[in-house]
Amino acid sequence: MDTRTGEGCRFAFNVRWLDPNTHLIWHYQLFYYTHDQSIEMFDIKNQRIFLKRVSHPEIHLEHLYLGASISLYSRQLIIESYGDEFSRKHLQGFQETTFALIKPDGIKNMGRIIDLIFSNGFLIKELRMCKLSVEDARNFYKIHSGKPFYEALTQFMASGLCVAMDLVAENAVRRWRTLLGPTNSQDARDRDPNSIRALFGTDSTQNACHGSDSLESAKQESDFFFRDRNFGSCARLENCTLCIIKPHLVFDGVAGQVIDLVLKKFDVTAMEMVTFSQPNAAEFYEIYKGVLPDFHAMVHELASGPFIAMEISNKDGQGNPVSSFREFCGPPDSQACRIVRPNTLRAKYGINKIKNGVHCTDLPEDGVLECKFIFKHSFNPFVDAMEYTNHNLR
Ligand code: CMP
Repeated sequence: MDTRTGEGCRFAFNVRWLDPNTHLIWHYQLFYYTHDQSIEMFDIKNQRIFLKRVSHPEIHLEHLYLGASISLYSRQLIIESYGDEFSRKHLQGFQETTFALIKPDGIKNMGRIIDLIFSNGFLIKELRMCKLSVEDARNFYKIHSGKPFYEALTQFMASGLCVAMDLVAENAVRRWRTLLGPTNSQDARDRDPNSIRALFGTDSTQNACHGSDSLESAKQESDFFFRDRNFGSCARLENCTLCIIKPHLVFDGVAGQVIDLVLKKFDVTAMEMVTFSQPNAAEFYEIYKGVLPDFHAMVHELASGPFIAMEISNKDGQGNPVSSFREFCGPPDSQACRIVRPNTLRAKYGINKIKNGVHCTDLPEDGVLECKFIFKHSFNPFVDAMEYTNHNLR
């Protein structure tokens, strides 16, 4: 088949799907037609069309990068590789991944920084808040070992929380470093006043964010933070509640704005980007099964793409954060919320009952449980669907 269709381009990807019922792994070729945002799938094993070409305006080309998980007719598909040379050649540079780190001094402004990341055209592929030990910081910056600033830098990096991210964009390495501005925040204010370091940094050590200097170091630095699931875990799992910034808001690139609003009233003590399989989402929402008529629609939304989960605590540490955060979110139906509680998160960012912007823990006694569910598990949608099914079969 021609890759140029005469009506835009056709890009091909190899994807896999784990059938949670049979444990079979299916391999498909997925074709994406830019002209009408349509998708077609080919079953590789049985050598036949699996899904006839049909328009999916909710899926954009930039969401189809290696490692991405996309939800199609309740199937969680993982993009494994490019399906042809044309797609690799055209998309590889355009979907470059770089590593970004919000340093301890940038944490108070992480909502604004994440908002700048989205508004400058990056997608966030992975995100995790961590607490580095001095030894971790020394390892991460070992290339600078022996330099005069090394000791101060590594002590500073271990002095508070960090947020590690993999960012995807065209020429991501260069573009992220440009957005950061000069290393020294004071220079940045003179030379590039709109850069992240000019806006949020203090000096050379406390310069708000880090960015990899090459594709090779991006890979190494990303592995350092994301390979070991328990690395630097910072969830407190006490006196906390859970907030999930739902997939539709992550997709719309407004997660940073929500984080910024949350930080004005609450402490965020852990944060992670997670992708649920449908079984993960059903397990998470289990208490609503048979209670809420919208249970299946809620499960579908939560498993429709990556979301950002946050462990939230009250700033003063007093009272139960579950109830204060629920107040802040507003009633579950965003449409009603806009009438009765117009200043809440769900009124501002939700659309309806299902796409209501954020999930927050409902019952005061469930805050720790829900945080444990998210921050004590690893959610590889591919593996977890299998674990979940095994568990249910026992
Ligand atoms: P970062 O992007 O994290 O990568 C290495 C870090 O070393 C850099 O940001 C600065 O925080 C720090 N650094 C580099 N040069 C100097 C310097 N001359 N003085 C102090 N710190 C520096």
